[in-house]
Amino acid sequence: MARPFYVTTPIYYVNDAPHIGHAYTSVAADALARWRRLWGDDVVFLTGTDEHGLKVQRAAEAQGLGPQELVDRHSAHYREMGELLELSNTDFIRTTEARHRTAVQQFLQAVHDHGDIELGTYQGLYCVACEAYYTADELIEGERCPIHERPVEHVTEENYFFALSRYQDRLLEHYAQHPEAVQPQARLNEVLGFIRQGLRDFSMSRKSISWGIPLPWDPEHVTYVWFDALFNYCTGVGYGEDRARFDRYWPVDYHLVGKDILRFHAVYWPAMLMAAGEAPPRCVFAHGWLTVGGEKMSKTKLNAIAPAQLVEEFGADGYRYHFLRDQQFGPDGDFSYEAMVARYNADLANNFGNLANRVLTMAVAYGDGVAPGARAEGPLVAASRAALSGLEQGMDRLDFAGGFGAIWDLIHAANAFIEDRQPWALRKAGDAEAAAAVLGDCLEVLRIVAVLASPLIPGACGELWRRLGLPGRPEDERLPDGVEWGRMPAGVRLEKGAPLFPRIEA
Ligand code: ME8
Ligand code: MG
Repeated sequence: MARPFYVTTPIYYVNDAPHIGHAYTSVAADALARWRRLWGDDVVFLTGTDEHGLKVQRAAEAQGLGPQELVDRHSAHYREMGELLELSNTDFIRTTEARHRTAVQQFLQAVHDHGDIELGTYQGLYCVACEAYYTADELIEGERCPIHERPVEHVTEENYFFALSRYQDRLLEHYAQHPEAVQPQARLNEVLGFIRQGLRDFSMSRKSISWGIPLPWDPEHVTYVWFDALFNYCTGVGYGEDRARFDRYWPVDYHLVGKDILRFHAVYWPAMLMAAGEAPPRCVFAHGWLTVGGEKMSKTKLNAIAPAQLVEEFGADGYRYHFLRDQQFGPDGDFSYEAMVARYNADLANNFGNLANRVLTMAVAYGDGVAPGARAEGPLVAASRAALSGLEQGMDRLDFAGGFGAIWDLIHAANAFIEDRQPWALRKAGDAEAAAAVLGDCLEVLRIVAVLASPLIPGACGELWRRLGLPGRPEDERLPDGVEWGRMPAGVRLEKGAPLFPRIEA
């Protein structure tokens, strides 16, 4: 039976329009999901929208809308972003769905029954934009939140508290046994440092808000939005509805998140799960921050870039390629349009596109449109094996840039092989057989590239596959057999086609 694999993105706040920061996490999760499918895994890939909380309630009031109306409208933008980027998510969750309310209420009851939720009085500082509580020493000058740089609000009210302080030792023990559970390593150190400072119980309900999920034992309170939001990951695999399904996919393999929400995912969330008797996530991977011109994207600065703007120019493949290969998944990175154009032209238009184009053009012309088939052995066999192993090594660490780079090494090798053998000269000299052998090897490389690069640039790989005269889709192949040398059949009909990646003039 196929191995279950479960990957998630954060569920995004609906008050904001999707920008390249949100798309970044989603595209990475998609590449990982597609990669695991190539290995035959039974993949659940979940994304969605976070729709409760004060921020939404206030935005709706300001716009004269009902909150449901507002979230319906905005959630759709994230769904459209997914379609635009060709995300292969298997589900899209919204926290206002009935299945989520049911699951959260069951979970809350379990934590309450366990004795980890108690009534208290909350007095403190709240940032509405973060939907997070702060202590005075975490704030920047003028009592402003360090993330949004906006003034926090003073809040005093009766709240229920989650007894996070009781989980300090268990969390440390968990991370001592599973240091791989927070990645990259530097993020684990950050998390451990935070836990060691001492954990405070946190408020998990609000009485003054109406837009949220009521507590089952005290419906005058609604669930604190983060407590509700984090649980989407469990709702998405059947918690409260189908225990067998939940047990199949839980614990999740990867929560991909930005570093801004690491603490919620690597401290609060595992403790909440422990309190309900569920296993913590296998891995929270927190990537860095994407900036534009060195600055954080924001509504106020009007510097947020919509993915649609770039997809229009570069296509979904060109978009995905840039963010996975030009940006390191881990550290912060600055977005540069010029770098995106340069990389697109060099790697996609020239290397990839040119290999496909010249090989198909010659093969069609020399073989009357019929593929010659690859030799059993040949000079490109080792390079094609290296591409698979390099990609595997990269993907194991979520090093997309390095992993997919291994495919471009193979593309370079094939282009260099053509320069070296000059099939056009061989043919001119009357050695049609030698020319066909070179082209057969290169067609085989194209076939292998179409499979391996399909998690990265699925559209171009599907089209290349079709032009190679192959049945089905590259993503239906299974690794490692699917990229074994020599599977390109002789005698299939080839098609030259238009350039896969036309050059872009900046
Ligand atoms: O925090 N660079 O939602 P959110 C890189 N609803 N990644 C970025 C980014 C940037 N500039 N901007 C956004 C929330 N992201 C909560 C999450 S999960 C249970 C609840 C990505 O709409 C990154 O993944 O503010 C970040 O963590 C996430 O979007 C925050 O999205
Ligand atoms: Mg945010």
